[in-house]
Amino acid sequence: MKRILYHLELTAMKTCIFCISFLLLYPFISFSQNKAYSDQHRPQFHFSPPAHWMNDPNGMVYYKGEYHLFYQYYPDSTVWGPMHWGHAVSKDLIHWQQLPIALYPDSLGYIFSGSVVVDKNNTTGFQKGTESPLVAIYTYHNMTGEKSGRIDFQTQGIAYSIDKGRTWKKYANNPVIKNPGTKDFRDPKVMWHEPSKHWVMTMAAGNEIRFYRSTDLKKWEQSGSFGKDEGSHGGVWECPDLFEMKTGKSNESKWVLLVSIGSGAPNGGSGTQYFTGNFDGKTFTNENPKQTLLWLDYGTDNYAGVTWSNAPDNRRLFLGWMSNWQYAQNVPTKAWRSAMTLPRELSLRETIKGYRLFTVPAKEANTLRINSSGKQFTSNKSYPISLSEIQLEYDLEKDGSNDFGIELLNNKNESLRIGFDKQKNEFYIDRTHFSGMSFSKAFPGIHIAPRLSESKKLTLHLFIDHSSVELLADNGTVVMTDIFFPSEDFNKLQSFEKNGVSLLTKGTLYELKSIW
Ligand code: FRU
Repeated sequence: MKRILYHLELTAMKTCIFCISFLLLYPFISFSQNKAYSDQHRPQFHFSPPAHWMNDPNGMVYYKGEYHLFYQYYPDSTVWGPMHWGHAVSKDLIHWQQLPIALYPDSLGYIFSGSVVVDKNNTTGFQKGTESPLVAIYTYHNMTGEKSGRIDFQTQGIAYSIDKGRTWKKYANNPVIKNPGTKDFRDPKVMWHEPSKHWVMTMAAGNEIRFYRSTDLKKWEQSGSFGKDEGSHGGVWECPDLFEMKTGKSNESKWVLLVSIGSGAPNGGSGTQYFTGNFDGKTFTNENPKQTLLWLDYGTDNYAGVTWSNAPDNRRLFLGWMSNWQYAQNVPTKAWRSAMTLPRELSLRETIKGYRLFTVPAKEANTLRINSSGKQFTSNKSYPISLSEIQLEYDLEKDGSNDFGIELLNNKNESLRIGFDKQKNEFYIDRTHFSGMSFSKAFPGIHIAPRLSESKKLTLHLFIDHSSVELLADNGTVVMTDIFFPSEDFNKLQSFEKNGVSLLTKGTLYELKSIW
């Protein structure tokens, strides 16, 4: 583990003190929330914790009108430490209510990433009243074991809630999966597989994914493995997710496997790749040649993302951690560190290159617009902005500019460019024009993504918050998520078109409101 190490005993004590003060202060937290969310760089329409360190989204599950978001949380500091599961809920995926910490470290270890399922048929026997048990399946990371040089320090545990996620109880016979002698053995994502009538766990184990099955979430047996020599192995495999998706062709469906990698992503550091293929209830098979690399997001700041369990209407809703292990612990925010991406909806469609994931913002993001019809965005005008959504269409058939996009500027001469280079057929985000980037050598850079669509109409869909941009190009074929930290907020937004006449045929700008 490359992260900072802490003593478990000290943590347990601190945790206790924190827990008591949190409970006492909890009623006041929502009142002071607005204040906490007005500090510099603070995202205004993305989820971030009121204070302290956050990484991966965990246990995302929908139950009775609420989207639950748990997250890797260290309540004592703004850098990574003994992991807890922070907790927030939302009725609309956009506005979040912070809830008390759901899971604390215990004698078996820190609480690493994992998932939550709704045990509708009470297969666990945990149900007491009318509420279905929500069961969390997570990794225990035993620091003492790691420090003493053992390799079996990660195991899997479960906890449950029978009051709609408000309070959690750890299962008495944890761990439910012991370590088989694999150093990196973590991040269980569980789903119910109806054809085989089993719970299926997809887990990262060293340089592969392992599948386990169970009928009661307590006893598990391994059923398969995948990936040793497939896809990218530029870093450790983490946080997988497995789900079935309709392809849009009559009744056809395929399986998608997301696998995050700790380093070696296309623009450096951590990122998320995916595979498409088949799952027979026991193991996954890739339908593409082994070396094919498919990336969910080409930006540097979308990691460890997975999808909501039990989402209504069969929606495949995704959320990622908007940072990168290369610099996450050094970014210049004060009270808190890290935010999540916007909730996004995934679909699988056939392209000339095969089946690919398409990503669009969840439709609930429309409610962020101050004025639902937006205003016209034209080429030679600058707009005073703070929070915005922009939709642009370019005609590539026209003889004109070969490098175009939009630019954010402030009074300190700092800028962020998001554009398309016609010759290279690449999208890019240029975050080199900032002062104060000495916190990490890996941070400044021009990040690129290949264009996959061959359409003569190119579209850019952008969401700009105080310290992040999300680009969903060509209707979600290519995605780039980048964070940035200007020394003063950007106050100007304009389009740029280099070397020729404008190709912009349509532009709409929406001002967005804060969720806090
Ligand atoms: C991914 C990750 C997971 C692990 C967690 C620890 O960012 O390394 O593999 O469970 O973070 O916080």
